[in-house]
Parts: sequence; C-alpha cells; structure tokens
Amino acid sequence: MSRRSSPLRIVILISGRGSNMLAIAEHVRDGTTPAEIVAVMSNRADAPGLASAAALGIPIAVVSPDDHADRTAYDSALAERVAVDEPDLIVLAGFMLILGPAFLERFEGRMLNIHPSLLPRYRGLHTHRRVLEAGEHEHGASVHFVTEDLDGGPIVIQGRVAVRDDDSVETLSARVQRAEHSIYPQAVDWFARGRLTWKDGRAWLDGQPLDSPVCIDFTFGD
Ligand code: GRF
Repeated sequence: MSRRSSPLRIVILISGRGSNMLAIAEHVRDGTTPAEIVAVMSNRADAPGLASAAALGIPIAVVSPDDHADRTAYDSALAERVAVDEPDLIVLAGFMLILGPAFLERFEGRMLNIHPSLLPRYRGLHTHRRVLEAGEHEHGASVHFVTEDLDGGPIVIQGRVAVRDDDSVETLSARVQRAEHSIYPQAVDWFARGRLTWKDGRAWLDGQPLDSPVCIDFTFGD
C-alpha cells in the first residue's frame, strides 16, 4: 500500500452551495486530513460556494460552458485548467455537469463524487423526491469513484439514514446532507493517507478490493 510523503493536492469542483466542500475543507484546516485544497472551481460564477472558499483563502476559478463552443471543447478546457493545479485528487461536490471522456480519461482513478442516494439505487436527479414517492424506509448518500458510467463507478462509502413518515424533501435532504458531511471527508482522508486506492478499475481500501462499500448508519436526533 502506498503512503504519501507530501500532502495530497485536491481540486474541488462545485456548482452550488458547497457544503460538502466546506466539510472537507474543515478536516484539512484542522489538520485531520493530510491534504491541501489547491483550488475550488465551478462552472458557475454565481455558485455560493466560491465565495465561501475564497473566504477561507482557497484559490477559486470559474470555467464556464458559455465560453466554449461545445461540450467537448468545454471538457478539454476544464481538464486543462484543472491540470494547471497538478491535483492528486479531484473531488466533485455538487458539480452539476456531466464530464466527458476528455476529462475522465485524463484523471482516471483520481476523481471522487458524492451522490445523494444509496447507489446503485436512485441514480440521476431528484433522488429525495423519488425515494419519498416510492415509500422507501431508508435513504442516504454514496461516495464513489467517477467513471464514464454516470453514478455507476465503484462505491467507496455510504451513509444510511432512516426515512420518517412525516419527511418532506427538505427534511430528508437535510438529514442526508449531514451524513454526506461525514462520509465525504472520510473518503478523502482515506485517499490522502494512501488507504483508498484505484487499481484495475476497482476501489481498494487498505490493500483489499472493496467488494461492497463501507456503510455507516446515521441516527440523527432531530
Ligand atoms: C449534495 O447533496 C450531493 O449529494 C449532490 O449535490 C449536493 C451538493 O451539495 N451531488 P453542496 O453544494 O455540497 O451543499
């Protein structure tokens, strides 16, 4: 198992609030995770998380699809910009664009994403609403390696929460987000310590292939 001698260089991609980005930044800032967030980037100049990152002194950048002819050109431009910061890990944290081959091939095995469902259930959008409509009793979030299979890459860790009878999309998503803010920093920490690796198209933890993800049950008292 490889152990790093220098802090992991992380680039975080966001499109919105950036609460997962902030949770990871907190673990880096307090010294828990041996890493450096070298940039937070967004496809949207108005992403609120950009201001939050800047307030922490993290360099920010915007790469907008509007400035590029098509998605292929955008993918290449984003990959070029990200590469400038020489990241060891790219963290997708609410980045709402689908990345194409030009990006994915360049950074294979170095990209994590968080998805608000217990994958492989509920890929795609509007997971909280769909979970409620289906009458599920449990829901959660998954951190996975990013591959061309959208929301389908190897899963590393999941946080599971109970669905309550009186849940709305808002209450359920808030509970899932609390779980996200625990499992995403955990996965990044494992990667930073060389405990989480990518080999042969699979996720490995502590030198063992992760045949099933680590799953943590969260019981929040709210
Ligand atoms: C999270 O719920 C994550 O699961 C999804 O997008 C949301 C991002 O939230 N991919 P935030 O911007 O980190 O607050």
